[in-house]
Amino acid sequence: MNECVLRILHDGILGIPMENFDFNSPFTHYYLHAFERIRKPWLLIEPLFSLTPLSNDQYKNQDDIYSYTKEILQRRITELRNGAPRKMSLMDFFIKISEEHPNFTNDDIINEITTFMSATITISRLFYHSERKKFQGQESVATTMTFTLYYLAKHQDVQEKVMEEQRSINFDKGEMTLDMTKQMAYLKQCINETLRLYPAGPVLARITTEDVTVGEITIPRGTNLFISPCSTHRLEHIYPDPEMFDPERFSADNIKKRHPYAFIPFSVGPRNCIGYKFAYLEMISILSTLLRNYHVSLVPGKENLTVYFRITPRAKGGVWLKLTPRKS
Ligand code: HEM
Repeated sequence: MNECVLRILHDGILGIPMENFDFNSPFTHYYLHAFERIRKPWLLIEPLFSLTPLSNDQYKNQDDIYSYTKEILQRRITELRNGAPRKMSLMDFFIKISEEHPNFTNDDIINEITTFMSATITISRLFYHSERKKFQGQESVATTMTFTLYYLAKHQDVQEKVMEEQRSINFDKGEMTLDMTKQMAYLKQCINETLRLYPAGPVLARITTEDVTVGEITIPRGTNLFISPCSTHRLEHIYPDPEMFDPERFSADNIKKRHPYAFIPFSVGPRNCIGYKFAYLEMISILSTLLRNYHVSLVPGKENLTVYFRITPRAKGGVWLKLTPRKS
């Protein structure tokens, strides 16, 4: 799943066609020390962190990512000047913007691109002042798809319902279109129910800019707050029997009955996930393609998940699934 997402990101953002995927790209193997730094908060103090071996690793990763992106950017600028025809990538759009607005520099483009490539989520705000760059793996999308497949394997009736919806769509014309993805409402419900149980960003961080009163408590201005979508999503009075996987919770009618902030996997407000529409498109297209080709079932002995959080939720020992080619 990670490789699939990486190929899509390299293609859509950097303009490297999927078939030319670069396994040496530093985006494929950088290591995230953020979690370690949360567990040992003194490592959040940059001068202290810079004395540890972890920092060598991290700074090298950042430098590799910077140089790699810079090299691609320079190549794309030359190609664009020479008018080479090709599919536009996000980087190409940024280059066009910088031509019209020269104060949007090449360094700005590199910063934007590396942020998108890393699909920055929770962690950016935590380290905003101390880190030289923002991170997060493209794990958000890959993790959500993997967990969705697990639940579809576990709940065969739900998988069958997803398949009924897939069969009702006319795929004869070949490539999947935006319109087709819009017809996959039930598949999206399954993705949302997975995001409810295992939001890829289980913790959001904010600093209050004014005094805030919640019930009987007043939180003073300037307080660091952690908001846990994971906990909100399991409030029994909002989601009865919260541990149960039930995509019906996200039917159009049931969504209307809840407060919009009862479901916050992409955060909310002005700094919510900028990539959420892209994420849904990606997840729906990949899962639809996979499910139309393979029936998914659980592997004996690996039926249960032990989930832990390494920034994003992870399954101990991995998620094991059996894919059987569908006959028609
Ligand atoms: C299932 C997939 C995803 C989930 C659950 C997710 C979740 C989130 C969350 C919770 C935040 C806000 C963090 C905060 O408020 O502190 C965020 C921010 C962000 N996400 Fe995503 N994300 C996903 C996929 C993506 C993708 C595919 C992209 C880009 C290609 C992306 C790009 C970003 C960016 C750039 C931000 C920072 C926005 C800002 O600071 O203004 N995300 N994401």
